[in-house]
Amino acid sequence: MTILVTGGAGFIGSNFVLDWLAESDEPIVNVDKLTYAGNLDNLTALNGDARHIFVKADIGDVTVISKLLADHRPRAIVNFAAESHVDRSIHGPAEFIQTNVVSTFSLLEEARRYWGELPDGEKHAFRFLHVSTDEVYGSLEKTDPAFREGDQYKPNSPYSASKAASDHLVRCYHHTYGLPVLTTNCSNNYGPFHFPEKLIPLCILNALSLKPLPIYGDGQQIRDWLYVKDHCAAIRRVLEAGKLGETYNVGGWNEMANLDVVGTLCAILDELQPRADGLSYASQITFVKDRPGHDRRYAIDATKLERELGWKPVETFETGIRKTVEWYLANQDWVANVTSGAYQNWLGKQYSH
Ligand code: NAD
Ligand code: TYD
Repeated sequence: MTILVTGGAGFIGSNFVLDWLAESDEPIVNVDKLTYAGNLDNLTALNGDARHIFVKADIGDVTVISKLLADHRPRAIVNFAAESHVDRSIHGPAEFIQTNVVSTFSLLEEARRYWGELPDGEKHAFRFLHVSTDEVYGSLEKTDPAFREGDQYKPNSPYSASKAASDHLVRCYHHTYGLPVLTTNCSNNYGPFHFPEKLIPLCILNALSLKPLPIYGDGQQIRDWLYVKDHCAAIRRVLEAGKLGETYNVGGWNEMANLDVVGTLCAILDELQPRADGLSYASQITFVKDRPGHDRRYAIDATKLERELGWKPVETFETGIRKTVEWYLANQDWVANVTSGAYQNWLGKQYSH
């Protein structure tokens, strides 16, 4: 048996591929367009491993996808491929609509065609798992209960609106065509291979190079952080035992204000690699102009996944963030490769003010 993973050279997808092949011998066909966010360096541990077949392609490329499905006959598709950064979606939403809506639609069409022609046994076993975000639910007030699966979708950014659209398409392919789909809506991830445009890796790397740690607005926006390996375990569990057509919220019960997140990672860096001048890295915290339409709070209620499928996160924020800081300190070569070239252009555009 084989599974087909899309976006498996990105942050979460590459962690998923590595964890999957560490836990089982079932091969993976990994389809990734290798945008700025896709990086084969994440997968060097699999060089020469016949269980990992990498294909550079767009999920919207019908010719490639239909051939891969026919040739490899996967028992499941796990769809990570997406444009994923809110700030980039504000600067340029078109790419988000193209990949997250149009290409995801195309992938669903190919999956439907393939699944429709499978013999009964394989047809029954097939799954299309769509990896999505808590941002589709919009923003919470301080005292609102955490997001639950039945909550209304109220996306506020081009990123979250495009993910919401893809979730609706996935849902309707089950309702209308019977495609055996599963959807996961996860909170903010962090951990190894996180591209340093996102808050946590950006601040670790800026701290080490003695640059400002940019905090949008008042830094009191709340996110619910989950260590990436816990997210990967949740996806494996939903793929294994999720009820068809259902959605599952995935979160770590770790709500934290951005300023506290950055304060925590500065304290770990102070301990592991103190600044030569004895000052704390926290002295580099700099408040900058807020993100337009910045969602104030996200929080996930993961009760359904915990109760029905028995998943629980292994890491607390304290253990996960320490592992993450240690990983960035130990992987300076990876950092040097991803922070060259186009990444510098993004920093110039986003933080010039
Ligand atoms: P990422 O940006 O690090 O990786 C996305 C990957 O998809 C990259 O490797 C990129 O090359 C690839 N890709 C982009 N467009 C493609 C296309 N048209 N065809 C094929 N490949 C394409 O993103 P991530 O953080 O790993 O997120 C993965 C998925 O998880 C996304 O769907 C995202 O919405 C979702 N998600 C992310 C988070 C988070 O905190 N990062 C939280 C919840 C859900
Ligand atoms: P981010 O990592 O971009 O994830 P998301 O917007 O999908 O939640 O941002 C996490 C939080 O950190 C979010 O509230 C925006 C904030 N943030 C900053 O304060 N400064 C930054 O430089 C970045 C990139 C994000």
